[in-house]
Amino acid sequence: MNPPKILVTRRWPEPCEDRLRGQFDVTLNLDNHPLTLAELQAALRDYDAVLPTVSDKLPAEVFATAPLRCRILGNFGVGFNHIDIEAARAGGIVVTNTPDVLTESTADIAMMLMLMAARRASEGERLLRAGQWTGWHPTQLLGTQVTGKTLGLIGFGRIAQAMASKAHFGFGMPIVLYTPRPVAPELLERFQARQLDSVEAVLREADVVALHCPGSAANYHLIDAEHLALMKPTAILVNTARGDVIDNQALILALRERRIAAAGLDVYEGEPNLDPGFLELDNAVLLPHLGSATTETRIAMGMKVIDNLEAYFRGELPPNRVA
Ligand code: DGY
Repeated sequence: MNPPKILVTRRWPEPCEDRLRGQFDVTLNLDNHPLTLAELQAALRDYDAVLPTVSDKLPAEVFATAPLRCRILGNFGVGFNHIDIEAARAGGIVVTNTPDVLTESTADIAMMLMLMAARRASEGERLLRAGQWTGWHPTQLLGTQVTGKTLGLIGFGRIAQAMASKAHFGFGMPIVLYTPRPVAPELLERFQARQLDSVEAVLREADVVALHCPGSAANYHLIDAEHLALMKPTAILVNTARGDVIDNQALILALRERRIAAAGLDVYEGEPNLDPGFLELDNAVLLPHLGSATTETRIAMGMKVIDNLEAYFRGELPPNRVA
């Protein structure tokens, strides 16, 4: 029997591509260009499995092509809000993702954004690189100490818990959080965390607010002008979740008018085309979606996709099936 025909939409770390080549009839995207809607539709017609990633867009329209040969979408990424899950399901296509393996690296980036924003690290580096550093003085680039300040988490999944651990045990930060489901008392006890009864309560109390909720229709523009107005003027907002959880225009205004102190952002609505308003802000630390970008994590993500793929083609239930 011929091996299944697989299309990988973007380049993967070499050990993962090698493992795929060893057992499947693989087509790689050699020049690593983002696939168009038409190319994704052709992939769904021509391949048994398509392995997309978080920067591919698969709305319902992509699935409106026939006949669909694709049986499984093995997503390289834990978030799958870029895939219309209902449309995939309706087309009889299984969807899998890559949870767990990117938890620590993403929590590390959230910590880094918190520290960079609090300590004005990007401003300092820009000053230095522009040749404008005239030497140390007592009032230069004064930031905020994070040790002992309150961290507010919106969402309390794996990545939020990893951040809670790093912030609480590493920086002595008290933790408050909001998540709609009750959190087990032992888990709260582990970080001496308090679960508050609303997003608003967290925004009012926290010195640093970190977003860890999924990018879903329910969370679209969750952090809008009214919510930003509840934050302390000294507070810092960190987003490693999804860009559209924040109303970008409202955040740009709040940062410009110093209604909050700073933001550290790794994700943007409409990325990679971020709102040019962000670029003018000294008090925004901006990273290009680096949350999971370590060699170890990206290899582990690719291997997880392949584990799911192998299980599917052996006729088993893929371990990380989301649809
Ligand atoms: C994911 O896997 O959803 C992340 O955003 C990639 O870093």
